[in-house]
Amino acid sequence: MDIWFNPAKELDTILRRVAGTTDGFTPEFSPEMRPADPRFGDYQANGVLGEAKRAKTNPRALATTLVDALKASGEIDPALVEISIAGPGFINFKLSPEFLAQWLVRYRGAEDLHKSAESAYRGKKVVIDYPSTNTAKQMHVGHLRIMDIGEAIARLLAFCGADLVRDNHIGDWGTNFGVLIFEIKRQNFVFPQDDETALEQLEELYKSGTAFCKDEEKNPGAMDAARAELVKLQQGDPENLALWERIVRVSNAACEKMYDVFGVKPDVTLGESFYRDKVGRVYAELSECNIAEEDDGALIVWNDDDPRYSRHNENAAPFIVRKKDGGSNYASTDLATLLYRVEHFNADEIVYVTDDRQCDHFRMLFLTAARWFKCKNYTLPSLRHVSFGKILGANGKPLKTKEGGTIRLKALVAEAVERAFAIVSEKNPDLDEAERRKIAETIGVAAIRYVDLMSNRTGDYMFAWERLLAFEGNTAPYLLYAVARIRSVFRKAGTTLEEISADNEKRVPATDAEVALAKKLLGFSAAVQSACDELKPHHICGYLFDLAGAFSSFYNADKVMVDDPAVRALRLRLCARTCIILETGLRLLGIEPLERM
Ligand code: ARG
Repeated sequence: MDIWFNPAKELDTILRRVAGTTDGFTPEFSPEMRPADPRFGDYQANGVLGEAKRAKTNPRALATTLVDALKASGEIDPALVEISIAGPGFINFKLSPEFLAQWLVRYRGAEDLHKSAESAYRGKKVVIDYPSTNTAKQMHVGHLRIMDIGEAIARLLAFCGADLVRDNHIGDWGTNFGVLIFEIKRQNFVFPQDDETALEQLEELYKSGTAFCKDEEKNPGAMDAARAELVKLQQGDPENLALWERIVRVSNAACEKMYDVFGVKPDVTLGESFYRDKVGRVYAELSECNIAEEDDGALIVWNDDDPRYSRHNENAAPFIVRKKDGGSNYASTDLATLLYRVEHFNADEIVYVTDDRQCDHFRMLFLTAARWFKCKNYTLPSLRHVSFGKILGANGKPLKTKEGGTIRLKALVAEAVERAFAIVSEKNPDLDEAERRKIAETIGVAAIRYVDLMSNRTGDYMFAWERLLAFEGNTAPYLLYAVARIRSVFRKAGTTLEEISADNEKRVPATDAEVALAKKLLGFSAAVQSACDELKPHHICGYLFDLAGAFSSFYNADKVMVDDPAVRALRLRLCARTCIILETGLRLLGIEPLERM
């Protein structure tokens, strides 16, 4: 019997296997493995109860049959896992200290954790679509979650073995270019040298251009002129194309600086414009398959199988795949993109990260793609929309500056770093300024990022500086500090993490605190599994916070540097494993741990 990376999952698998060859069990049997009441064990399988109900037999007797079969199968070493039956037929599993000792030896470094986690996605080609920023706009607080969540999920998928393509699907072919080019020409705009200044000015131009065009009374025909600029661009007019290229270049340069701050590194940047010559095939095939129909010049798709998007629902809107004027739109581009990702990247799975206002778009996209791919006999990849809620201010409304303006991401980061610097300086007045600055930069960005990831992404959350930068509670500073504290234990002990990790000592955890910490360490796999299954990084955050707490309790209860060399070695090993798992978990979230702080 190997030592299992994820005991609960492994026990579940074994139980299913054994039940499959045991009288009285149907193929529907599910063990329903869950954490047990700690007095009785670590995991409990409740599934026998339902099975007995179906078969109208005595549950306790059925549980006994299964446990006997389990023991006879030899799949579980009794020295490692104790099995017992409780109540009406619950099966309890208790991991022995010997199991914990072996686990600690087996999972000694990040690489071992990664290797075991790999099975979930091994060999799967996954395209993940983020941060997919829109051009001609500065990055603001509304871009934070797409970077944080996208990056964490990308790292999780890679950790779980996915062969990943990070595809930055930038919005560089929208209708906004009509107004923007119109206004650039109207104001004889000259691009300044500096990209960031240019981007700021472009944003202003878009605002003034929109206001100008909308005021039809004063400026009749302006809107049409803006639309004409867009059509000219789409038809390849050299002047408009050159302006467009310049705008995209300026935007990308500014965005990339922010991507750097948040450690976001796209593998490819194939924006909407890349698909402009690929939408024709979409129109043709959707029409040929009778999926799309003409409607007042536009090409639309009804998905009648889903009442929300069906023509029979008077509140539903169709999926418009080609505009009335013949132009492509967000939907046509996304359809072409999907096909390209399958044909070019051989995607088995595509993950889209956007805010939850786009849920309908993606549902319609997925429904339409499924019908289209079926008609054409293309292999449909698994399609997942990772949506997220808003960041709110103290007033419960979307976060804004005091004056009600948009918060620039640059300003938000700068403020976080400044605030972190003040705290670090207060806590460590002895460190020299340069080092305090460096630490503050890590903590500032980590704090923003962590608060963005720690709650279930599907909900909104309220942004508060105090909560972000607190050194207590479920925060980045708390976790970073836990790592730094363990690192300092090793410095004081005159040894290194690597040295401790390499030893093969198998002394078993004995004290309550040692056992509790060892069991917490085992929980890493289940947290990674949940985070990967649901594409929700907050499972990692919750787990890391619990682990740091278990470490604190252990550290307060049991002295590490005791005289007995065997006890000391075990405790140092527990410290080392905690540190490795905390660091691995933080890196999955996009946070680089600090040696000291
Ligand atoms: N640029 C879009 C926006 O900012 C997000 C793109 C998401 N990806 C996609 N394939 N639609 O709203």
